[in-house]
Amino acid sequence: MISIIGGTGPEGKGLGLRLAMAGEEVFIGSREESRGIEVAQQIKEIQDVPSMSIEGGSNLKAAKIGDIIIISTPYNGHKQTLIDYASHLKNKIIIDVVVPLSFSKGKISTLPIPEGSVAEEAQEILKDSFIVGAFHNVSAEDLLIPNKKMDCDVIVCSNNQDSKKTVIQLTEKILGLRGIDGGGLHNSKYVEDFTALLININKIYKTHSSIKISGI
Ligand SMILES: NC(=O)c1ccc[n+]([C@@H]2O[C@H](COP(=O)([O-])OP(=O)(O)OC[C@H]3O[C@@H](n4cnc5c(N)ncnc54)[C@H](OP(=O)(O)O)[C@@H]3O)[C@@H](O)[C@H]2O)c1
Repeated sequence: MISIIGGTGPEGKGLGLRLAMAGEEVFIGSREESRGIEVAQQIKEIQDVPSMSIEGGSNLKAAKIGDIIIISTPYNGHKQTLIDYASHLKNKIIIDVVVPLSFSKGKISTLPIPEGSVAEEAQEILKDSFIVGAFHNVSAEDLLIPNKKMDCDVIVCSNNQDSKKTVIQLTEKILGLRGIDGGGLHNSKYVEDFTALLININKIYKTHSSIKISGI
């Protein structure tokens, strides 16, 4: 079971949809149980495949029942969310997609993170979990169009090789995504920061840009 904490926003919905379409069992978590249930139903309605397994409920249930947990809250809720559910996240793979975005006077940038990156902040809080940074540069809007073939790379960073390998394989279950080994969590900063650049590029070109690494 793949649980998404903060799964009711565009990124959680998009990843939930695509992973369920790929045959994974997905659970959409929310601070409000009823919203998690409602959003899971909305996702089913986007792509009505009877075999798709997608349920929703509270973040607490998501943390308890997930084998792999995706954290998809805004940055301002990141730290407290991890602290709240830490006891249920031990020894699990935690995929952190959070970008510390800052919006000021029409400019989009990232906030400085004392630990270096959001993913390193997560590893500092969840010492007994396997933190993997991934999906930062993938557009939620594109994920939410079920018949749109994705066409980008997902840079995956972790200090745990086995967890990184598992997440790269999971990434590649979504049609058109290629997982790239981005090294340890110290590299997640660059991947997280790149999202701010992509959003600024999106504003110029009025599109949903993403990245592809050449030479691999
Ligand atoms: N949108 C994209 O294209 C994209 C792409 C890559 C990465 N990301 C990153 O992925 C994360 C999620 O993106 P999003 O656009 O889906 O975000 P979002 O809509 O702003 O938030 C996702 C969900 O988080 C919950 N939430 C809101 N404030 C919270 C708080 N203070 N504490 C705990 N939970 C809170 C809400 O769910 P409930 O109210 O139901 O609990 C909300 O629906 C962000 O960190 C973003 O930077 C986004």
